[in-house]
Amino acid sequence: MNALPLPSAITPPGNGHVPVMLAEVLHYLTPANGEAILDCTFGGGSYSCAILNTAECNVWAIDRDPDAIARGQALCATLQQVEGRSRLHMLAGSFGHMAELARQADAPGFDGIVMDLGVSSFQIDEAERGFSFRFDGPLDMRMARQGRSAADIVNTAPEAELADIFHFYGEERHARRVARAVVAARAEAPLHTTLQLAEVIRSVVPQDRSGIDSATRSFQGLRIAVNDELGEIERGLEQALTLLNSGGRLVVVSFHSLEDRLVKRAMQRALGKDVSFSRHDPRASLAPAAPPAFVALTSKAIRPGDAECKANPRARSARLRAMMKRPAPTAPSPKGLQA
Ligand SMILES: C[S@@+](CC[C@H](N)C(=O)[O-])C[C@H]1O[C@@H](n2cnc3c(N)ncnc32)[C@H](O)[C@@H]1O
Repeated sequence: MNALPLPSAITPPGNGHVPVMLAEVLHYLTPANGEAILDCTFGGGSYSCAILNTAECNVWAIDRDPDAIARGQALCATLQQVEGRSRLHMLAGSFGHMAELARQADAPGFDGIVMDLGVSSFQIDEAERGFSFRFDGPLDMRMARQGRSAADIVNTAPEAELADIFHFYGEERHARRVARAVVAARAEAPLHTTLQLAEVIRSVVPQDRSGIDSATRSFQGLRIAVNDELGEIERGLEQALTLLNSGGRLVVVSFHSLEDRLVKRAMQRALGKDVSFSRHDPRASLAPAAPPAFVALTSKAIRPGDAECKANPRARSARLRAMMKRPAPTAPSPKGLQA
């Protein structure tokens, strides 16, 4: 795909996060003048700014992280000064509640919705947020800075729940072993920091040949559990379908197979390709005859190019999927009134 020229008139606040597949996101989102766009994951604001620069449109931006909301509000204040009004509107909360957030803000239906899943570099690179074992920090991992923290789960969840978290969300082959080791360690003393937990995990998970740290998968599992990330994606996608105007585009960038699987399934359902039962199953004939409400914009997941992966290793695992709500049929002109 030809990279679009990336505009830079409105710049993201801070430079803590390199946006992933930005050119492709703009290509499928195609923001146009006068449109309303929903950015479900403001983060560092690079997507929102690029959208605002591409067209004279309005962007409503959600984030559950109060730090991201503060960055966005500072940008709103700057836009207010420079343009006389802010075309950016920040919505604090989870995209799993996007319908309610949009309703409270009196937002219109959307012509484009974009979701860039996972955590931002602002979050990962701050030791105090406790997302990474690259630094010693409190075992926190809460994007919203509220609710059950990673330390709460690690120090109180039953062994079976821990094993499920490491197995299902971390896809860790040694999940039971990790859960047992965590329970044994916390019986000695509660685990408070990222490095304490990483050490416990590394002591029972052998380093494989990939070179990936043996604590990586368990940390991913814990982060997904702390933030109910998969539940959020399911709820968010369901609501996105209803919030889109006819002709509206949905673009989702995911970073691991658990996320991408949910996105793929939700899109297949909306595209009328629900593969939950065989076409020989009698229920197949009960499927509605109406054409599906969405059409695919990507036939399979789009991957970032080599140059982007080289420049930004975080992009390597990214997958982009996009679809469009079918444009409303134009009403046939009444007989007799035709020219
Ligand atoms: C990958 S970053 C987005 C980066 C952004 N596209 C940019 O260009 O800077 C993901 C952001 O989404 C937020 N986030 C993740 N899950 C969320 C959810 N369920 N509801 C609201 N925000 C969420 C995170 O707090 C984080 O700031």
